[in-house]
Amino acid sequence: MCEVVVVGGYSGKHLAIRVSRELGIGYISVYTRRFPDNELYVRVDGCVKDRIVIYINSLQPDPSERVIETLYTLYTLRDLGARKVYAFIPYMAYARQDQRFMEGEAISIEILAKLFRDTGVNGIYTVDMHLHRISDPRTIFGEKFHNLTAVPLLARYIMENYRLENPIIVGPDEEAVQWARVMAEIMGTDYTVLVKKRVSDEEVVIETRGADVCGRDVVIVDDIISTGGTMARAMEALWRLGARNVLVSCVHALLVGNALEKIMLQKPLDMIATDTVLSPITRVSIASLIAKTVKEEIIG
Ligand code: R5P
Repeated sequence: MCEVVVVGGYSGKHLAIRVSRELGIGYISVYTRRFPDNELYVRVDGCVKDRIVIYINSLQPDPSERVIETLYTLYTLRDLGARKVYAFIPYMAYARQDQRFMEGEAISIEILAKLFRDTGVNGIYTVDMHLHRISDPRTIFGEKFHNLTAVPLLARYIMENYRLENPIIVGPDEEAVQWARVMAEIMGTDYTVLVKKRVSDEEVVIETRGADVCGRDVVIVDDIISTGGTMARAMEALWRLGARNVLVSCVHALLVGNALEKIMLQKPLDMIATDTVLSPITRVSIASLIAKTVKEEIIG
């Protein structure tokens, strides 16, 4: 059988190394640097000829630079003679700009999807992509696209590490129902969602509509923490309703600016996230999820 190798991009090396160890296969690094004029230099540091490549890179930090790096790498892997290339993009950037909110705006995720399709990769895998107005991402990324979920890993971590009393899972907005439902099922409890109205990039208003959280340990689950506004306002609302404890969890902790401080000031029991994006609250690795997917869907 053709040899399989894991290739780690700038924001995927921690995962690529763990996946290569878990699968007992080779690891190749992608070297990047900036030229003096700020242009990006990309080099695949090993032989991929005739090999099946599992490429891993998240589109954070510096999402636009990561997009360029990822596209350069995917084209280069083909050029270098890789037999097949599978791209694992644990954090897919630009997914929130999924429609034209104002005349003249670029619908970023549609353009990004086209750029990925055009690389000719054999499969694109991401994790808990932000899906709001696009219900089926295959309509833009094509049939080779797969949206995995890390919420079961978060749920198991919470069950193993916290003794929660009468827990309830809360999604901070209506789109978060998809994650709240899965987490509640695994933890054998109930869930609810709050109602969020976005005022600006950093400000949101949250309504609770009488969520049943009084005296209970609440686990908030969301796909992304960006500026932290959503989590901070959700926590305020939950405290007002008499929650006993609030544990904050998310898949992708971008933690822009003072997001961490903003949430910590609301005194959560703890904050946890996965390593799709490395952050100070990373506790759960998705390496096992990638390794399992590679075993089951790619190398059989
Ligand atoms: C959007 O609806 C997402 O699911 C998150 O709730 C949002 O991206 C969080 O952003 P922020 O942390 O800036 O409030």
